[in-house]
Amino acid sequence: MDETIFGRALTELRDAAAGSLATADAGRLIVVSNRVAPIEEGQPTAGGLAAGVLDALQNMGGLWIGWSGEISDAGSRILPEKQKGKIRLQTVDFAKADYDEYYRGFANSALWPVLHYRSALARFSRSDYAGYRRVNELFASAVADALAPQDVVWAHDYHLLGLAAALREKGVINRLGIFLHTPFPAAAVFMTIPVHADLARALCQYDLIGFQTESDRRAFEDYVLREADGHLLPGRALMAFGRVVRTGVYPIGVQTEEIREQAEPPADCPQMARLHRSIGDSKLIISVDRLDYSKGLNERFQAYERFLEQNETRRGDVTFLQIAPPSRSDVEGYREIRLELEREAGRINGRFAELDWTPLRYLNKGFARQMLMPMYARADIGLVTPMRDGMNLVAKEFVAAQNPIDPGVLVLSQFAGAACELKAALLVNPHDPDEIAAALERALSMPLAERRERHAEMMAVLRRNSLTVWRDRFLGDLNGRA
Ligand code: F6P
Repeated sequence: MDETIFGRALTELRDAAAGSLATADAGRLIVVSNRVAPIEEGQPTAGGLAAGVLDALQNMGGLWIGWSGEISDAGSRILPEKQKGKIRLQTVDFAKADYDEYYRGFANSALWPVLHYRSALARFSRSDYAGYRRVNELFASAVADALAPQDVVWAHDYHLLGLAAALREKGVINRLGIFLHTPFPAAAVFMTIPVHADLARALCQYDLIGFQTESDRRAFEDYVLREADGHLLPGRALMAFGRVVRTGVYPIGVQTEEIREQAEPPADCPQMARLHRSIGDSKLIISVDRLDYSKGLNERFQAYERFLEQNETRRGDVTFLQIAPPSRSDVEGYREIRLELEREAGRINGRFAELDWTPLRYLNKGFARQMLMPMYARADIGLVTPMRDGMNLVAKEFVAAQNPIDPGVLVLSQFAGAACELKAALLVNPHDPDEIAAALERALSMPLAERRERHAEMMAVLRRNSLTVWRDRFLGDLNGRA
């Protein structure tokens, strides 16, 4: 590499580490994510990202910019701000073409499958990519309108890989960071996206890129070094496309105490009473996922069927509750999985059900967090077996919701980001129904002492790396704290 560029890069890095704490502390935080949480109480959760960002912003405050969830005939437009507690919320309506090309198209039909190692499902088109860039520019305009010189911008996820590039084009020099909630795949997989080089160049316009796990971070670094002629600098920074970009690992966490409180419902909670009436004292296995092919739902149903085949004495005494709110139902691939699961649930129940026993309850709807936590606490097993997942906050929430005196057992896919931290779960390969079936039986017969020990080990990890720690570590690094 050119010596002068290298020298400049090192100076920039040193400045970043030393100088900007005061600057950033004086500035405000602007968060940008496609999905923003429904900030009214008791709404179903909008997924891990929105819930996590809401928690992280609630006590520190800031401006949150994202999609209103509406498609408007009036075209894409930035709506007036709303205030909710310490959060100022600014949403954007999308024109139909923007929704189709950016959200349904490039983000969810091309990027999402590739980031989850499912390139064969990806559908790429130039016009979708143009729409993706257009919406990133729209979000950049909303940010630029609100931006003061000391503010820092924290973008979230695969929808906004181009936000920093759009802001830099507007002359913005503020600190810009992005946290990727999904996995980042191996270079060879990322390269199946025809515009991979363009995306990497745009990503390198951020000052800091955060990943869920070290293997995601390494995969990005590997791509930049091998395919983008990048160079490694001290402190996990990269010199690429004429800029210095820092990378880091920030596994998203949960608020353990709040979850444990929510897990103890009032004694007269009608929904819990209904659940109790219908399953009595029988063993409960619970899974909660958006209806998405990356979640391994079909494979999980097969594994449960295998478990019922192999463990005759458990029949009649165990219920598997799968909660799967529909998601992205207008994206190809999502309709199919819904039909497939309905068929499979019906088949498995048809095969094993008795007059007084339904082995698999499959609910196609979402529940508010306040309802889910008591259900997690009641469950004997949390079954979380995605084929790939950035983190999977359900796994962490399940652990945090347990009563430490008599905790349930987490059966967790080795391909969820959470597996890097929750090593005391029963880790399984989601491709292997026999292994999952064996883990279910092992969990159901696990002695209390072992359940407590595993739970305590996982809780220690969750307490050390709470959602607040995640937020503070990322923002600390973005602000240049050493
Ligand atoms: O990281 C993926 C993610 O953004 C999650 O945080 C969230 O659970 C989900 O996707 C939401 O998907 P959508 O906004 O398409 O409904």
